[in-house]
Amino acid sequence: MAERGKIAVTGASGLVGSELVPTLRRNGFEVLRLVRRAPSADDEVRWDPSAGTIDTEGLRGITGAIHLAGDNVASGRWTQAKKARIRDSRVRGTALLARALAQLSPKPRVLVSASAIGYYGTRGEEALDERAAQGSGFLASVCAEWEDAATPARDAGIRVVNPRIGVVLAARGGALAKMKMPFQLGVGGRIGDGSQYMSWITLEDLVSALVFALECDELDGAVNFVSPTPVTNADFTATLGRVLQRPTVLSIPKFALRLGVGSDMANEMLIGGARVIPASLHAHGFRWEHTTLEPALRSLL
Ligand SMILES: NC(=O)c1ccc[n+]([C@@H]2O[C@H](COP(=O)([O-])OP(=O)(O)OC[C@H]3O[C@@H](n4cnc5c(N)ncnc54)[C@H](OP(=O)(O)O)[C@@H]3O)[C@@H](O)[C@H]2O)c1
Repeated sequence: MAERGKIAVTGASGLVGSELVPTLRRNGFEVLRLVRRAPSADDEVRWDPSAGTIDTEGLRGITGAIHLAGDNVASGRWTQAKKARIRDSRVRGTALLARALAQLSPKPRVLVSASAIGYYGTRGEEALDERAAQGSGFLASVCAEWEDAATPARDAGIRVVNPRIGVVLAARGGALAKMKMPFQLGVGGRIGDGSQYMSWITLEDLVSALVFALECDELDGAVNFVSPTPVTNADFTATLGRVLQRPTVLSIPKFALRLGVGSDMANEMLIGGARVIPASLHAHGFRWEHTTLEPALRSLL
């Protein structure tokens, strides 16, 4: 057993997981990856969230779990079938994992089960800490069900943290890769009037916060995983333009976005926004590497 414990990770191949797994290992954790195919290495255990099967025996000895798996929210149009995949992959996958962890003996001490700031919906300028009520819309209802699905683990006495993750900024992939392209072509611009808030976190800080959540015994329930300085879309646009040294005079009309990606996705992911405050991480002494946007973008780009 590694000195800091053995951690099961789902969604290990994704943007966050592929940075998290090597970071855990460098920091003295042993990692067990849950994979949705036949295992091909000693550190892999099989699960199939769509079929509802998981190798519970293979999880024996874990001290914690970080659950990141879910159908990608930002790729492809939100058809009814895509929405069902987004919801079912999260709700069923979380319930399956939570039930398996609850059956283990000894039980792991902690389950860090991802959620998102989509929980808060679109909220204008309201500052939203963890006590803020659920918002409305598709993502808000998915996030609420996704968080609730971890209840079997909580009922078994496992500490459950639900990180409500903001927009993850990474050097490669994720939201920044999508946003960067029009700027590089010289057609970057704010969305609508640019007043909607964007609550961001760098991938490096997100991974540190996930590790922090494993070990900070006081952290429990929903926790906002964002930087301390959310910005408006207009500020984000101006800052990204400055960092890339590209013009940002254009404004992208809302109707064009609705036509381009469909109205639900445009309204909830691009036109709407939420000003989310990391009150709980702050209160428990988490230290961010990137607290303000411009230095964060400069380090990433
Ligand atoms: N990136 C962001 O800006 C952001 C913001 C807020 C919340 N989050 C949440 O944080 C978690 C990790 O984000 P990420 O950016 O790393 O996501 P990602 O790159 O899309 O990776 C998610 C992983 O989940 C697994 N997966 C994909 N489709 C699945 C399905 N239908 N059923 C079950 N598993 C599936 C895959 O891993 P395997 O192939 O290894 O199983 C995939 O690599 C996600 O739940 C995401 O919703 C992300």
